[in-house]
Amino acid sequence: MVKSLQLCKNVLIRVDYNVPIQNDIILDLNRIEASLPTIKYFLKHNKKIILMSHLGRPKGFDKKYSLEKLIKPLEKLLGLKVLFIPTITLESVSLITNKSYSIVLLENLRFYPGEKTNETEFARVLSNYGDVYVNDAFGVSHRNHASVSAITQFFENKKYKGILLESELGELNKLKQNKISPYTIIVGGSKIGSKIHMLQSFLDVADNIIIGGGMAFPFIKYLGGDIGSSIFQQQELVIVEEFLKQAKQSKTKIILPIDCLITNNIKEKTGQKHIDIMKIPQNYMGVDIGLKTIDLFCNVIRSSKLIMWNGPMGISEINDFSNGTKQIAETIVEETNQGSYSLLGGGDTISEISKWGLKNKFSSISTGGGAMLEFFKNENLPGTKDLDSIIEV
Ligand code: 3PG
Repeated sequence: MVKSLQLCKNVLIRVDYNVPIQNDIILDLNRIEASLPTIKYFLKHNKKIILMSHLGRPKGFDKKYSLEKLIKPLEKLLGLKVLFIPTITLESVSLITNKSYSIVLLENLRFYPGEKTNETEFARVLSNYGDVYVNDAFGVSHRNHASVSAITQFFENKKYKGILLESELGELNKLKQNKISPYTIIVGGSKIGSKIHMLQSFLDVADNIIIGGGMAFPFIKYLGGDIGSSIFQQQELVIVEEFLKQAKQSKTKIILPIDCLITNNIKEKTGQKHIDIMKIPQNYMGVDIGLKTIDLFCNVIRSSKLIMWNGPMGISEINDFSNGTKQIAETIVEETNQGSYSLLGGGDTISEISKWGLKNKFSSISTGGGAMLEFFKNENLPGTKDLDSIIEV
């Protein structure tokens, strides 16, 4: 441990516990498990640990997104009792002195508007919970938020990279230096707006950009297709237009789905059929890529030596709609076994492939999805600047 850490008592650690939850059930513990090495490291050195994270995108306080539901799994993984602090205020800082607990978890940071606005005052309140600050949340380090950005001003010479963050940055840096080609990026999921912006930095860098899942629908709509009730927001059309204009002038090929699986009721899963993606009837929505698209995407993957993937190809947490994601995952694993390099990132994607026992079969895994894409644009992420290592080299 570096000398500057030896005297501290309370270590405030920003983790990314933004885990997939459905009907109050945590579907995947990968991100919590990934944070354990740093926590155990500080426990071994007799420090008290104060964990802070966001969960989802709540608009103010919302019980559905309370971090309280993470207490039990965390206690089970650590074999220790965890003290939960439901309000992040100066008054509640004294609670952490409770000698019965060595681990403390604060309530969801995003219940407080100051988190997303990177407010100095909120960061100041947070800073009172620790003598030193550790960022171990690569997944949110691309956000200019108080718990990863503004907070660092209160920890001059006392701010560090956690073990997970350090190792993720190391892997990604290695990959960034290595110019392997053909290079294919596959993106899916539903965080459309912010991801298209990040994709721009891969134009002329990657050979192919495959766009599937919810990300594909604004493109199909822009190209004149009928997308029924598939996910889409009007303002995305401008972003798509700009992206496609730039893509046309680059050497990067943009590959979109040609067919998809549709349903007229996600819950009941009724009316399922494969259909031309340009012709989705009203009241139907695309929920997975279709069989022809799977062939198309997998052929591109098979011709690639470097494959980076973020975001499922459909609503893959529902079994009926998970075929496309599974086929893509299996094809990438096959190619990895043949010597290609594969990098997979993002909470939802990791959660899906873990279900199928494929997690350890990729060359590398990043807990961040958006953060991973953003890193390739600019490695100086708001949350990773000027942090020291915790371990003496
Ligand atoms: C993620 O899941 O990508 C990170 O936790 C960041 O979440 P956000 O996209 O809601 O900021």
